[in-house]
Order: sequence, then C-alpha cells, then structure tokens
Amino acid sequence: MEKNIALIYGDCASPEIVTQAVRVLDKIAEKHGHTFTYTRAWMGGEAIDKFGDPLPQSELDKCLASDSVLLGAVGGPKWEGMPGDKRPEKGLLRLRAGMGLYSNNRPAKIWPQLADASPLKKEIVDKGIDFIVVRELIGGVYFGEHKTETENGEEKATDVMSYSEHEIERIGRIGFETAMKRRKRLTCVDKANVLDTSRLWRKVMHRLQAEYPDVEYREMFVDNAAMQICKDPSQFDVIVTENMFGDILSDEASEITGSIGMVPSSSLGAGSCGLYEPIHGSAPDIAGQDIVNPIACILSAVMMLRYSFGMAAEADEIEAAVNTVLDKGLRTADIWQPGCEKIGCSAMGDAILAEL
Ligand code: IPM
Ligand code: MN
Repeated sequence: MEKNIALIYGDCASPEIVTQAVRVLDKIAEKHGHTFTYTRAWMGGEAIDKFGDPLPQSELDKCLASDSVLLGAVGGPKWEGMPGDKRPEKGLLRLRAGMGLYSNNRPAKIWPQLADASPLKKEIVDKGIDFIVVRELIGGVYFGEHKTETENGEEKATDVMSYSEHEIERIGRIGFETAMKRRKRLTCVDKANVLDTSRLWRKVMHRLQAEYPDVEYREMFVDNAAMQICKDPSQFDVIVTENMFGDILSDEASEITGSIGMVPSSSLGAGSCGLYEPIHGSAPDIAGQDIVNPIACILSAVMMLRYSFGMAAEADEIEAAVNTVLDKGLRTADIWQPGCEKIGCSAMGDAILAEL
C-alpha cells in the first residue's frame, strides 16, 4: 500500500521522538512492501517561529490532504507569554477542529515489565489495569467563547462550556462501539449533579444505551472517577467523557501505568484520516539530550497503522518489538529501574528496529 503521512515534528524534545517513529515506520514499510511518503507540516511553536501563526491554513491543508498525521508534542517556555490565540496549543486545537477529529482514544494499559514503575500499590496493580479513555475532542469548554474583560475596576474572565446533542451522540456511540469490542463495560463520566451539559450527556447516553443492550453501562461523577482510577482501576473498561474531564483523567490514567512516556493516542472523525500523537508534552527540560522516551510516539504510529491504514499485522509486529525490548531490560530514563540498562532516545529506536 502507498500512504502519505503528514509529519509534525513539534517543539522542544518532540522532533527526537518523531524521528525514531519515522525510522520504525520506514522499517515496517520495507518489510511489508508498503511505500510511506512524508509531507512535513508545521504546527505549534515551530510554526509561530516560521510563520507567526501556530497553524497557518497551508499547514492544515497539508494535513487534510494526507492519509494521516503523526505528531510529537507542541509548546514550551519560549512561547509561554504569548496571547491565547498565538500560543502553540492553539495550533493543536485548530488542527483537531479543522480535521473534525471529535474522538480521542487514550489507552491506559500496564506493561507487565513496568508494573513496579506504577505509583499504585502492588495489590492494586495486580488486579489489572487495562482501560481506554474515549475523550470528546472538539467541543466543550475548550471551544466555547473565551474572553477577559474589565468589570467594576477588576478583570473578569469567562470560558463557556456547551455541548449539543449531535456532538454527544457521535462520541457516545464511539464509547459504546469501543466497549463492544472489549469487555463490554462503559462508564460515562460527568458532573451531572452540577452541570447542564452533563445532564444532556446522560439524556443522550440513555437513548444510545437502548441500542447496546449487551453493554453494561453506568454513570460516575468526575470527582469520584478521579478517586476510583487510583483506588481500583481494574473496574474500568471504557470511559467516555467530555473534553476537559478526559484531558485530566487521561493524564491520571497514564501515570498509574508507570509513565506518561509510554502512552499513545489516536484522534479520529468521520473519515479514516486521523491524528496520532503521544499524550505527553514536549518535555522542554530534557530537550536536545537524546534521553526522551520515544515509545509513546512509536506506539502512536502503531495506532495509525491499525486504525487508519488497516495494517493490523504490521502494528502487532511493532508492538511485539517494543515488548521484547522491555523484556530485555532496556529502559529510557523515565522508566528506568535498578537492574535495567538505561539507554537514550535514539538507542531505544535502534533497539526496537533491531527486533523488527
Ligand atoms: C493533551 C494536551 C492538550 C489538551 C493541550 C496541549 C492543549 O494537554 O493533548 O492532552 O489539553 O488537549
Ligand atoms: Mn492533556
């Protein structure tokens, strides 16, 4: 197969991990007789530096014309003081919205080799951690009206959170469909004791529930969910939730698996063209030292093969290679433990390539 991938190298330590993911993609393409071509697109801080805009239309167009987009991470101290719409993060939000990617899938799964790296007690980890956060990605407070004004001699800021039925229904359906492919348990996380948006979520979810009688469906307030994720994560199979709750809970979910440096994500909309990115940030503190963990980005490329290109065997092979490398005790600094060998970013790329 021939596929064109838009590559966003991103900011700070991000180009280091994207470079390793591309090496892995090239190797798997060569092995299976595929041709991957790459179109470089600029977004985030690098786009601000180059164009004065975190996502010019030309760069969004490249992404829309591609078969899928692979991204590292954007942002960093250099662009910290910028106004809201000139920040690197704004480029990412505009990319997600411009591509119509309403469904963000963030798996939280413990790698047995890294079980000791989890901050949770062993008896909790041993019950199993294997769930997915399905996060609504282009609605809610992230995309409501934002303003700062002066009222009665002081500043006042407003961020509006709103959801309409169709926005809830399409992500709710992904939640049920994802659960059907797994252990058939879905938890809708909200704050229905306080928010109108959450009450509308529940109403729409109840309609969908009737279509999925095989799914064991329940609802949970977000504060309780945050507690339950560290108390007994084994109770979760699929969580479906709105944009900001999903942002927060997916960081918590990744941390209990040992390292945020291991967690990939996929973002999809109506078509097969998706955006694939690690859930971690651009790691400015360790940029340029070749010590960042490339695995989340490599596993994001794996999700691209699986979900956008239908290349399940290729995806399995890369995952198996990562598994073998972890079995051999090779670790980047973020997942290093006594008794293991500490290696850098490109050495981790080398090690994974060697298993392919
Ligand atoms: C994420 C990030 C982004 C988000 C930021 C960088 C805008 O935290 O992908 O989780 O909040 O969605
Ligand atoms: Mn986040």
